[in-house]
Amino acid sequence: MIALGIDIGGSGIKAAPVNLLDGSLTQERLRMETPQPAQPETMLAAVEQLVSAFSWQGPIGCTFPGIIRNGITCSAANVAAQWIGHPTEAALTEILGQPVHLLNDADAAGLAEMRFGAAGEQQGTILMLTLGTGLGSALFINGTLVPNTEFGHLLMYGDSAERYMTNSARKRERLSWAEWAARINEYLAMTDHLLSPNLYILGGGVSKKHQKFLPLLAANAPIVPAKLRNRAGIVGAAIYADEMISRAA
Ligand code: BGC
Repeated sequence: MIALGIDIGGSGIKAAPVNLLDGSLTQERLRMETPQPAQPETMLAAVEQLVSAFSWQGPIGCTFPGIIRNGITCSAANVAAQWIGHPTEAALTEILGQPVHLLNDADAAGLAEMRFGAAGEQQGTILMLTLGTGLGSALFINGTLVPNTEFGHLLMYGDSAERYMTNSARKRERLSWAEWAARINEYLAMTDHLLSPNLYILGGGVSKKHQKFLPLLAANAPIVPAKLRNRAGIVGAAIYADEMISRAA
């Protein structure tokens, strides 16, 4: 079974067909820059252009960096505010001419890590965090996703935690790895307290440099780096499309 995965982000839009037996990409991943300002009309046109290269007929899953409820985008922390209330799943279905299944980007990355990546055989509560422009979260309880947790917006020092401790904060404030790790540890103390996870998975582009900060992190559960790197969103979107189609059958 192969499904097309599309990963819409604030800086790039990526897509590739995914083999759902092993999570491999069956064709080379295509990427384009997200048009700025990141508004619905221009971004959806970019998705259409990118996806046309695959001449795809079949299941399609797509991620978005915000809350998705019933196919509607309900938040837009790092993209234009016009996305809030936009019927994005229906709009994508119309422009691509086939049903599209839409989910939050961190939830997608979590699904991919659960099936093909870092989660392994771990049971119980697993919290995946994606440290990128925003801070994404995906919570799994015994393998079941609790969607749209948005733990990146837990409050720290009067603002969203992502302003204080995601990778864009590290870059913006030119934090050393040790300074940044200390901030992540403050955050993990909070999630430990709220959820007592059995495992943390850290993803996002910076996870490829995990040797620089992972040894400095401490929580009440093991912390492992994500394995699927920049394909997690695409793979998770494809898994989600397949799951939604099976559920409807
Ligand atoms: C958004 C989340 C998203 C995360 C990573 C946050 O700002 O609110 O929905 O998962 O960024 O893109």
